[in-house]
Amino acid sequence: MFRQFKILLTVAWIVTTVSLGTVSLAAQPLTLVPQPVQVEKKEGKFTLTPETKIIAGKGTETEARLLAERIRPSTGLPVTISEGSSGKPENQIILRLDSTAADAKAIPGSYTLSVTTEGVVISAPTPTGVFYGTQTLLQLMPPHVFSAVKVGHVDWVIPCVEITDAPSFGWRGMHLDTARHFFPKAFVKKYIDLMAQMKMNRFHWHIVDSEGWRLEIKKYPKLTQITEDSPAWYSSEDPTDKSRPAKFQYGWFHGGGYYSQEDVKEIVAYAAERHIDVMPEIEFPAHMMAALTAYPGFGTTGKVPTIRSNHSPDLINIDEKSLNFLRDILDETMSLFPFEFIHFGGDEAPKWQWEQSEYVQKRMKELGIKAEEDRHSPPGKDGKPKIVKAEQALQAWLFNEMARHVAKQGKRPVGWEEIMHGNNVETLTKSAVVMPWLSMNSGVKAANSGFDVLVCTTFPFYLDSYQTSDPSDNWTLYGGPWTLAHIYNYEFFPKSLKPENRHHILGAQGQSWSELMIKPENVEYQVFPRAAAIAEILWTPKEKRDYDQFSRRLVGQANRWRVYGVNYRALLPLPSISWTPGEIKTEFSSLESDVTSQIKKAGKYSVTFRFMAGGHGLDIQSVELLENGKSVSADKHDGFAGAQLRNNEYSLKLDKYNSRAKYILRVVIKGSGGTDSKGEIVLE
Ligand code: ACM
Repeated sequence: MFRQFKILLTVAWIVTTVSLGTVSLAAQPLTLVPQPVQVEKKEGKFTLTPETKIIAGKGTETEARLLAERIRPSTGLPVTISEGSSGKPENQIILRLDSTAADAKAIPGSYTLSVTTEGVVISAPTPTGVFYGTQTLLQLMPPHVFSAVKVGHVDWVIPCVEITDAPSFGWRGMHLDTARHFFPKAFVKKYIDLMAQMKMNRFHWHIVDSEGWRLEIKKYPKLTQITEDSPAWYSSEDPTDKSRPAKFQYGWFHGGGYYSQEDVKEIVAYAAERHIDVMPEIEFPAHMMAALTAYPGFGTTGKVPTIRSNHSPDLINIDEKSLNFLRDILDETMSLFPFEFIHFGGDEAPKWQWEQSEYVQKRMKELGIKAEEDRHSPPGKDGKPKIVKAEQALQAWLFNEMARHVAKQGKRPVGWEEIMHGNNVETLTKSAVVMPWLSMNSGVKAANSGFDVLVCTTFPFYLDSYQTSDPSDNWTLYGGPWTLAHIYNYEFFPKSLKPENRHHILGAQGQSWSELMIKPENVEYQVFPRAAAIAEILWTPKEKRDYDQFSRRLVGQANRWRVYGVNYRALLPLPSISWTPGEIKTEFSSLESDVTSQIKKAGKYSVTFRFMAGGHGLDIQSVELLENGKSVSADKHDGFAGAQLRNNEYSLKLDKYNSRAKYILRVVIKGSGGTDSKGEIVLE
C-alpha cells in the first residue's frame, strides 16, 4: 500500500517536473514578484550548462557566492565563480558594479538585468542592486531552482529579457514575534530568505515581550532563564482548533527558548549578506512581565508581577537604577545589531502604577512633568479640552532619555504610535520614528508633525488576521478577513497627509504576531502569500501595479514557495468579474462576464464576492448563469459584500453542459451603496 503510494507520488513528481520544465518558455508569461519597473521580453533563451560561469566584478563576490549556492544544488551544475569584468557574456552570468550609475531617490537597490542567448549581465550602482538583480534572475529560472536537492528532467533555461528596476520605498519590512512563541534559528533564517527573495530589506525582530524574553543579555542572565521551565502553550495541539483564542492568556510564559548572542550575530550576518537590516525591539515601559518577574527590583512596585494581561499594569520604574538596567540592556543589544534603528516598543502601557507610586510622582514634580489640556485631540463631549495625564508625558520623557543614550552610538529610536499620543507629539524627540498600528490617523498626524513614519496598521498589515472568509482560516487573533487585495489596494498617501510630508512615510511592514502561531508552519500559512502583496506595493510604482496581473504572477511565485517548502495558504482563484468605483450605479445594476472558459461540465458552481476597498459594500440581489442568452440557473437571495461579508456566497447548478454554448455570469446589484467600492467576483 505504502509502496504504491510512493510510486504514485514519484510519477506525479516526474509529470509535474517535466511539464514545468519543458513547456515552451517563449509562450510562458513571466511571474516576477515584485513586478519590476520595466520589463521587455525578447525572443530566445539562455541555457545553463556545465560550463556556465559566474563572473564576479569587484565588490560583488558575496552576491556571486549566494547565487551559485542557490543554483548548484538543484541543477547539479558546477557554476564556478571567477573574478573579473569581461564585456559581453559568453555562457556567463556577469555581475558588476557600475560606478557611473546612481540610485534614483537615494534608495539603494536599482539594477539592470539583461538576458541574451549568450548569457546574463546584472549591473547596479551598489551590491544591493546586484543582489536584487540575482533574485530577479532566479525568478526567471524554472521554480525547481529553489530546491535544496538535485532535480532532474528540467531544462535550465532563462528567457531573454531586458529589465530596469528600482524600489519605490526604502523600508520594505517584515516583523516576526519570536517572544510569544519561540522559533528555532533555522526558521528565522528561512524567514529572512523568503523576505530576500521578494527584495524586502528590513526585519523587525520582536524578540522580547511579557510571555518570553528571547535575547541573551549577559549582565542579566535571569531574563532568559525565567521562562525555561514553563510549558509552551498549545505545543501539542492542532493549530486550527477553534477554541485556541479563548485559551490564550496574555502574560503567562510561553515556554523556554532564547537566542544566544552568538545566535543573534549569526542571524544578523546572515541577513546582512541578503541585504536585510535587522531591527531589534526592546519593549518598555510595558510588555515587560518576563523582565520584571526576573528582576522585580526594576519594576515600579518592586514586586513580582501578578496581573496577567496584554495591558498589564507592570511598568519599569524611572529611578536611576532601573534606567541603568534599561541602558545596560540597550548597550548589549546595540553591540549585536549594527542597524541604525532600534525599537523601544511603547505600546499598551496603562499608567496606574506610575500614578500610584510615591517615588514616580515625586520625580515627575522634580522634572516639571504635569497634567495638561490636550492640544492635539478634539474636545470631549462636554466641549471642554481633554486632559492628558502627566504619566503620559512621562512616557515621552523616558523614551527621550533612552533616545539620548542610543544616539551616542548613532542610533535612532522607533516606537509604536502610543509614544506620541496626547501632547507627546510636541515633546518627543524628532529623531523618533513612529509606527502607527491602531490607525493611519496617527501616522498622518506624526508625518504632519515632522516625524518619520513606518506604516504597520492593523488593517491590513497584521498578518495574524484571517485572510479569507473561509471558516477554516478563522482561528486567528485579530479578525479580518484582510485579504491579499486589501493589502494590494492600500493607499499610502491619504488626502489628509500634506503633500510636502509624503517623504516622511519611509515604507511599511507586515506584522506576524505569534500569540497563536505556535509553529513555523503556522507563521508561513499566515504570512504567505500576503507578504508578496506587501513586497509588491513597497517595490513597484503604483502606476505599474495591477491586481489581476499580480494574481496571475503569484501562481508562479507559489510554485517557487512549494519547491522551497513553504506552507503558504492556497491561492485564491482568479476573479471572473472585477468591479471598480463608478461602475455600480445607484439603481439596480448588472455586471456580466463571459465565463465560457470556466464552465467545463455539468454540476455545481459557487460564486463568491470579494470586497477589496471603498466606503460602502455591495447589496447583492441575484446571481445567474446564462447559456446562449437564456437563464439556466439562478440564486436569488440578499447578500452583502463590504468590510463585513454577509451571505456573499451564491450557488449555481448546471444540469446539462453544452460544449458549444456561450456562458455568461450575470450579477444584479440593488439599491444605493457600493458606488465607491472595488472588488471582484469569483466563479469556481
Ligand atoms: C501592538 O500590536 N500592540 C503594537
